[in-house]
Amino acid sequence: ARAGQIRRAPGRAGPPLLLRMYWWLSLQEGQPIYLAVKGVVFDVTSGKEFYGKGAPYNALVGKDSTRGVAKMSLDPADLTHDTTGLTEEELKSLDDIFNNVYKAKYPIVGYTSRRILNEDGSPNLDFKPEDQPHFSIKDEF
Ligand code: HEM
Repeated sequence: ARAGQIRRAPGRAGPPLLLRMYWWLSLQEGQPIYLAVKGVVFDVTSGKEFYGKGAPYNALVGKDSTRGVAKMSLDPADLTHDTTGLTEEELKSLDDIFNNVYKAKYPIVGYTSRRILNEDGSPNLDFKPEDQPHFSIKDEF
């Protein structure tokens, strides 16, 4: 069975439709929301009002959206890690949002392969995890 799929037990009618819909919704509710900026993966679940389904910045989710954040653009062409040709101002704005929004508000849960591996797939020995000095896991509880 695929994850998240609701299946009836053989020979049984299964729960009533409304109950199944409610269950499905509750599963959706429980999914964490991730996005990456500069190869750093953040758990932005606490910003559901920005990133959740139907929310204004939902398009940034599930990918490295560095370019879009730098340019304040939701154009699909900008929803990429690629920073080629960004202006000084856009790069400054990117770092500002990276530090003062993402690193300040959301826990880091990982890194994209681009950030931790070389082009040939070997480990990048220069990789250093980001520090998140104003953020400790304790803040979550
Ligand atoms: C009419 C255009 C826009 C308006 C009026 C607007 C307004 C806002 C406001 C008021 C906030 C702060 C909300 C809060 O902290 O409570 C915000 C946050 C943000 N905006 Fe926009 N915005 C616009 C367009 C965009 C676009 C096109 C992007 C594309 C990337 C963008 C990216 C963001 C991001 C990343 C945040 C931070 C969300 C967070 O705290 O996680 N905005 N915007």
